[in-house]
Amino acid sequence: MTVPEDAVSTVLVTGGAGFIGSHTCVELLDHGHAVVVVDDHSTSSPAALDAVQSLSGRRLTAYRADLRDATALDAVFGAHRIDAVIHFAARKAVGESIAMPLEYYDINVGGTVALLRVMLARGVHRLVFSSSCSIYGDGGGHPLTEDDPARPTNPYARSKWMCEQVIADTVHRHPELSALALRYFNPAGAHPSGLLGEDPRGALHNLMPYLMQVAVGRRPRIEVFGSDYPTPDGTAVRDYVHVVEIAEGHRMALERLRPGLRVLNLGTGVGTSVLQLVEAFAEASGRKIPYDLVARRPGDVAELVADAGRVAGEWGWRARRDIGEMCRDAWRFQQLHPEGYPG
Ligand code: UD1
Repeated sequence: MTVPEDAVSTVLVTGGAGFIGSHTCVELLDHGHAVVVVDDHSTSSPAALDAVQSLSGRRLTAYRADLRDATALDAVFGAHRIDAVIHFAARKAVGESIAMPLEYYDINVGGTVALLRVMLARGVHRLVFSSSCSIYGDGGGHPLTEDDPARPTNPYARSKWMCEQVIADTVHRHPELSALALRYFNPAGAHPSGLLGEDPRGALHNLMPYLMQVAVGRRPRIEVFGSDYPTPDGTAVRDYVHVVEIAEGHRMALERLRPGLRVLNLGTGVGTSVLQLVEAFAEASGRKIPYDLVARRPGDVAELVADAGRVAGEWGWRARRDIGEMCRDAWRFQQLHPEGYPG
C-alpha cells in the first residue's frame, strides 16, 4: 500500500493517466492528497503515471481496469478508504462518437452508472465529474453561462449531458451525495516542465495534437475544418484553457464539495479561431505550419466561449495563462517526446 497515512484525503481518479487526469494527479499530490488511479489505458499510456510521480516526488497507486467491470472496480474500493472520486475516464472525440455512438454511450454513460453504483454500495459520497462545454451545442455567439440551455450536437456531447442527468437523478435519490460537474472548454497546453502533456494514442482528433505533430514533422500539414463560419476569419472559435489551470479547478472543486449537484464552467472567456491558434503555434515553435482550408467537420459548431464569471465569483478561480503560453508548453512536451510517451 503506497497511500500515506497523513494524506489530506484519498482520491480515486478514473482516467488518471489521460491528459487532464494526469495533470490533476500532480495537482492533488502536490496538495497532500493521496491518489488512486483506475485507467484501462485504452487511450493513455502508463508512462504518464511515472511522469506524475517524478514531477510530484510522491507515489500513487494505479490499477488497470475498465469501470464497467464491477468486480474489478469494487475490489479497488475495497482496498482503499476512498474519500472522493474525480471521474475523467471517457472517450472524447466528436467525429469518432458520430461513427461509433453505441461505444460512446456504453463507455461514457455506462461507465458513469457503474461507478455511481459502486460508490453508493461502498458509502463514497463525493464526486467531481469531468463534463464538457460541448453540452451547450451552438452557443449562438455569446459567452456561455451555466444557465444556457443544453443543446448537444453530437453523441460525445450528448453522452456528457446524459451523465450529468444520471448524476442529478442519483443525487436527488441519494441526498447524501455531493457532486460537482465541471464543464470545461478546450483544454490545451502541458505541464511547464515538459514532462507531462497530451499524448493521444491512435488516430488524432483534436487540433492541438495535430499542430504539435505537424510542427515536429510527423505530419505534413493541418486541415482547417471550415472557413465559412460566421466568425471574424471564418474559422471556428474556441475557448482554450491551460490544462494546469483545469487541474487546479478540479482540486478546488474537490475541496469545495457540498450536498447536491453543482455545475460550473471552466474557461477563460477569450475566443481563439483555428487560424489564430495555427499562427500562435507557429510562433511558439518557430516552425512553419502549412495548412489547407477544407470542409466543415460534422458535429462542429461555430463558436464556444465561456462566461467564467460564476467560478471566479465563488472560488476566485481565474485562467491566467494565454494561448502563447499554452503553445509554448505543448511544444516543450512535444520536443521532449517526439514519439509520445515510451511504451
Ligand atoms: C470537442 C468538444 C469539447 C471537448 C473536446 C474534447 C464539441 C463542440 N466540443 O472540442 O467539448 O472538450 O472535443 O476532445 O463537441 N480542427 C481543425 N483541424 C483539425 C482538428 C480540429 O480545423 O485537424 C478544428 C475543429 O473543427 C474545431 C477546433 O479545431 O473547430 C477545435 O477542435 P478540437 O480540438 O477537436 O476540439 P472541439 O471539437 O472544439
